[in-house]
Amino acid sequence: MIKNSDKVDICIVGTGYVGLVSGACLAEIGHRVVCVDSDDKKINLLKKGIMPIYEDGLKEIVHKNVKKKRLFFAKSIKEGLHHKGHRAEAVFIAVGTPPRPDGSADLSAIEKVAEEVAKNMSDYTVIIEKSTVPVETCRWIEKTVTRFNKKHIPFDVASNPEFLREGSAVSDFLNPDRVVAGVPSKQAEFLFKKIYKPMKHSQIIITDVKSAELIKHASNSFLSTKISFINAVANVCEKTGANIDDVAKGMGLDKRIGSSFLKAGIGFGGFCFPKDLEAFYWLSAQKGYNFELLKNVQDINESQKMWIVKKIEEELWNLKGKTIALLGLAFKPNTDDMRFAPSIDIINALKKLGAKVKAYDPVSMENAKKVIKGIEFSKNPYQCLKNADCACLITEWDEFKKLDFKKVLMLIKHPILIDGRNLYDPAKMRRMGFTYKSLGRP
Ligand code: UDX
Repeated sequence: MIKNSDKVDICIVGTGYVGLVSGACLAEIGHRVVCVDSDDKKINLLKKGIMPIYEDGLKEIVHKNVKKKRLFFAKSIKEGLHHKGHRAEAVFIAVGTPPRPDGSADLSAIEKVAEEVAKNMSDYTVIIEKSTVPVETCRWIEKTVTRFNKKHIPFDVASNPEFLREGSAVSDFLNPDRVVAGVPSKQAEFLFKKIYKPMKHSQIIITDVKSAELIKHASNSFLSTKISFINAVANVCEKTGANIDDVAKGMGLDKRIGSSFLKAGIGFGGFCFPKDLEAFYWLSAQKGYNFELLKNVQDINESQKMWIVKKIEEELWNLKGKTIALLGLAFKPNTDDMRFAPSIDIINALKKLGAKVKAYDPVSMENAKKVIKGIEFSKNPYQCLKNADCACLITEWDEFKKLDFKKVLMLIKHPILIDGRNLYDPAKMRRMGFTYKSLGRP
């Protein structure tokens, strides 16, 4: 039975980016949410008010909703489903789905959650998949729940893909372009509408479960395609002398194309795009369709990361013993996330060529130290640039827009600046005395 109240009792399993942000935001719009994680350390930190991730505005809404007794943390699904006299009507699954060596998604954590929910639910429950998963994962969840649901409690499995971006996750969740709900029954649809009712301005699209799952795959792959497309165009601009900024602007003003995701750079990273692209390709292949376009998108992205290495070599010839300063390490600004960051591949390539690498990032340094070894981490951008043979802009943090370039020119050994994000004005940089290279701009 669904309760006759505007407030829904929700349990969220997984307190990663998607789980924690969704949990905090669902509490923010008025529901009672219990966030569960099998990592005791994470739950202990959260109970003390310490965030396991850096995300703009997250800490504030977590603290606020804990105080208002709308947001709770628990170490087991059992506790999350029956929490202080409240029974969860909706259980969101937001656990990790890391890529396996062949590129397919590892769904074993989801299977475990489905089993635990089945063993602990006591009345009609809607189990909602929120992690990015291959089409038909909901069917597998349903099979697993049925197998362990010995008391034959009624349930539905639904899909509610998440489109939030790291760095703006909280505001993306609270102001979405659309909410996609893939539901198998009218009862599940009713619960969804209740959950998202407080977000009055967002459009809810109700679909069948498989279509909802595919919307996520197709959206992320399309956005990756847009980025690789503009990066390929930037390469042609470089060869023809055209200007990618003007070309992208001219394209983007066509409403059918749109101006977002047309910024050329050294490729996309992060935990979603590279992983989702691979998983969609793999899924299509498994179903008998060769989605070759997705492979091309991946290939362009890989070679794009090496653009910066090529440019350094063009300026410095041999890199053995030369010092390269990298400004930025995170896969994009306003996040501390280093997963699939282009900087990792760039650093590996530079080290292979014998270069010494110094790096600075305003926020991701601690995470970077875990995955990058054998380089010097600097305390600030100026320390990083001191005595470097060449400077490279990797992540377009605001801090780098405001650099004191007169000071930089005094510190750096050679005034060479390779801009991997087209952050600076080429004419201005050259006027200041830099040998300045950017993508597809004459
Ligand atoms: C993405 C999707 O946007 C989001 O909907 C999904 O839920 C998760 O994946 P995120 O990975 O946080 O979000 O980052 P996003 O801001 O989309 O950027 C992804 C990557 O593309 C970054 O490396 C960024 O630098 C790059 N990018 C983005 C470009 O190179 N050019 C662009 O024009 C836009």
